[in-house]
Amino acid sequence: MLAAQKDVEVRHELLERLAEARSQTDALFALLRPDSLYERPIRERHRIIFYVGHLEAFDWNLFHQRALALKPFHAEFDQLFAFGIDPVGGGLPADQPKDWPAQMEVRNYVNRVRQALDAGLEAALQSGAEHGEFPVDLLLEVAIEHRLMHAETLAYMFHQLALEQKVQYARIPEAVVPAVTPAMIEIPAGTVTLGLPHTDRTFGWDNEYEAHVASVPAFSIDRYMVSNGQYLDFMVADGYVNRDLWSEADWTWKTEHGITHPIFWKPRDHRWHYRTMFDELPLPLDWPVYVSHAEASAYARWAGKALPTEAQWQRAAFATPDGGERLYPWGNEAPRPEHGNFDFERWDPTPVGAFPQGESAFGVSDLLGNGWEWTSTLFAPFAGFERFAFYPGYSADFFDGKHYVMKGGSPRTAACMLRRSFRNWFQPHYQYVYAGFRCVTNR
Ligand SMILES: [Fe+2]
Repeated sequence: MLAAQKDVEVRHELLERLAEARSQTDALFALLRPDSLYERPIRERHRIIFYVGHLEAFDWNLFHQRALALKPFHAEFDQLFAFGIDPVGGGLPADQPKDWPAQMEVRNYVNRVRQALDAGLEAALQSGAEHGEFPVDLLLEVAIEHRLMHAETLAYMFHQLALEQKVQYARIPEAVVPAVTPAMIEIPAGTVTLGLPHTDRTFGWDNEYEAHVASVPAFSIDRYMVSNGQYLDFMVADGYVNRDLWSEADWTWKTEHGITHPIFWKPRDHRWHYRTMFDELPLPLDWPVYVSHAEASAYARWAGKALPTEAQWQRAAFATPDGGERLYPWGNEAPRPEHGNFDFERWDPTPVGAFPQGESAFGVSDLLGNGWEWTSTLFAPFAGFERFAFYPGYSADFFDGKHYVMKGGSPRTAACMLRRSFRNWFQPHYQYVYAGFRCVTNR
């Protein structure tokens, strides 16, 4: 195949992926009853209507000038919908529903942006002519992954809405999975690659570069993610009231906000229940617990263990006992549904250990999917980091010593972001993410 022809095919595939990602986010907004669009399900974040406009404003701001030489047609919305909020610092937004444009106006903006971008991208594709300093393919990857990340963050935002504000879905019963017994797996001293080399054709965000090898001393790691059942033991043992288990900052946060249990748990009739996306169930003891970094750290201290570092997690996931490395825990094949709970197959977790085919070479389970995993590593640049000139704040704004790296993926993480170099990050007191953890012991 001629190189030019191959490039055209790659680009057509990217346009198809963008269209699929749009269907994914359109379907999410369609889950909401129309009067819910001006709600703010998480008090530190924007109202939902912002995100309806944001996904298109982001794409427009990324492409119109840099790649397509298109003229703005609604500069006010391009600006209004440009940036989200990171909830560090405690200041809460005070805007009211009436401060936002009418739904119809936002929908019209979305449609017009899509039409203009699609025509421009198609024309650029046909002519092979590019107007800007950045390759259109790279910007398309950025637009696709940005939208898919929002498909996940919007899911956990909508999770916090009252059940009656969402369209109801009948829950498909899951196959019963044999119960597993918690165990730890020894990982011998060795090396692992962090990051993505520039020579790799895979797309990566700025914080994934540059690739480098880390040496990791021997350690043991939980075979499974910590389950709701295990976490309940910590609660029954007064984990939330034992000051010694919490760092100063975490204790202050917990006390000031009156936090006494995971946000997805709900006490009812003297029993714990679990808020799923569309339902409320008796607490499923064998699902991974979803908690903040602060709560995960307190549990780890109580258990006499620690959260893994990013390098430990990476080694348990991708290294092999003979000194090799894999692209995914199970091998080098692209992710398939039998490898784990990811890529929008489900709305909620499955029991830990439900995907034996997804285990790593060392036998560690559930590494990709079923919940992001907190690490003890502060989010910071790798040596050789260079910010993307077209999106300078994507990572660099968060190299502030206040965010921790998460690895893995959740039921709502798209398959493309399961690559081993992908790094997610959140601040330690954010409870709403689909994130849990496993522990390590260091020898
Ligand atoms: Fe965004």
